[in-house]
Amino acid sequence: MYSMDDTQVARTIELNDGTQMPVLGLGTWKSSHLPRTSVQGAVEAAIAAGYRHIDTAYNYRNEADIGKALCSKMKQGIIRRQDVFIVSKLCYTHHAPEDIPLCLNKSLNDLQLDYLDLYLVHFPVGLKKEGDELFPKQDRKMLTTDIDYVDVWRGMEALQASGKVKSIGVSNFSILQLERLLALCRVPPAVNQVELHPYLVQTDMIEFCKSRNIALTAYSPFGSPARPPSELFAGESDPYKILEDEVVADVAKRHRHTPAQVLLRYHVQQGIAVIPKSDKPHHILENTKIFDFSLTAEDMRALKGLDRGWRSCRLDEVKSHPYYPFV
Ligand SMILES: NC(=O)c1ccc[n+]([C@@H]2O[C@H](COP(=O)([O-])OP(=O)(O)OC[C@H]3O[C@@H](n4cnc5c(N)ncnc54)[C@H](OP(=O)(O)O)[C@@H]3O)[C@@H](O)[C@H]2O)c1
Repeated sequence: MYSMDDTQVARTIELNDGTQMPVLGLGTWKSSHLPRTSVQGAVEAAIAAGYRHIDTAYNYRNEADIGKALCSKMKQGIIRRQDVFIVSKLCYTHHAPEDIPLCLNKSLNDLQLDYLDLYLVHFPVGLKKEGDELFPKQDRKMLTTDIDYVDVWRGMEALQASGKVKSIGVSNFSILQLERLLALCRVPPAVNQVELHPYLVQTDMIEFCKSRNIALTAYSPFGSPARPPSELFAGESDPYKILEDEVVADVAKRHRHTPAQVLLRYHVQQGIAVIPKSDKPHHILENTKIFDFSLTAEDMRALKGLDRGWRSCRLDEVKSHPYYPFV
C-alpha cells in the first residue's frame, strides 16, 4: 500500500486484504437542506469521466438512485460490475447483531448489487433504532446505545465471511479505537474513512494507519462547504472556506490548476484515497485532473501549515458518549 512517487501517484491503493481501491472516488452525501439534485446524473457523469469508485451510505438515502445509474451504465456495456469499487456504510442505528445484515441487505437491494467492494462501520457510537428515524431524539437529546463497536466489528467480519462484502473497514474511528479493534478482532480494518484536508491534517492518524497497514480515505476534502451551520454534523458556524484559502489559491496558481485540484492532489500524493462530492458535471470532470501535476515538498509544507484542527463533521450531540471519537 501507499505506493507512490512524487510525479506518478498510484491510481489505486492496495488494501491489507489484497484488494485494489481506486484512489479517487465520487462522494454522494447530500445535505437535506439543499435543493434535491440528481445523484443518478452525478454518478453517470462520474462514470463517463472515468471514476471507478463511488462512496455512499445507508443514511444518505440515495442508494436507489445510485443503483439506477450503475445499472444503466452496466446495461449500456460501459462498465462491468468488477470495474467499479462500491463503498457503503453500516448505519449507526443498526449496530445490534440482528440489524447489521438488514442494513447491508437494504443497501444491496437499493444499489441493485449482490456484493459491495467495501463496507464501513459509519460511526463508532450507536444510536437507537426507532423506525426509519436516522437521528432518534427524545427531548432534543440524541438516543444513543451502549453497543460496543468491537461487537459491531464481529458482525462485519461475519458479513465478509458471507461473501456479500469483499472488504471491511471503519469510518470516524480514533487511533485508540483502531488499536482496540486490532487487539481484539480477527480481521483488521482495511480502511478508516475520516475527514482530512489542510485545516485538519491529522498527522498522528496518518502515521498510525500507515504503520498498521490500514488505508485512509479522506472525506470532505473541501471542508464540506455546502453544509449549512444548522446541519446535524456541523459546528455552530463554520467560518472556514478551504476552497477560498489564499495559500491554496497561491499553490494552485503556480501549478496552473484549480484550488479544488490542489486539495485533491494533496491526498493522492500522500497515498490517501479521496472522495470529493459534486453533482455538477464540470466539477466532476475537473476533480479527475489531478494526475498531471505534482506538489513540491514546499507546497505540501505550506498546505499542512494551514492546520487548525477544524472539523466540518463533529456530531457534537453525542460528545459525552464514551465511544465519541473526536476527543
Ligand atoms: N464517513 C463519513 O462520516 C462522511 C462524512 C462526510 C462526508 N463523507 C463522504 O465524503 C464525501 C465528500 O464530502 P462532502 O460531501 O462533505 O464535501 P466536500 O467533498 O468537501 O465538498 C463538496 C462541495 O464542494 C463543491 N465542489 C465539488 N467540486 C468542486 C470544484 N471542483 N470546485 C468548486 N466546488 C466544488 C460541491 O459543489 P457542487 O456539487 O455544486 O459541485 C459541494 O458543495 C461525501 O459526499 C460522502 O460521500 C463521509
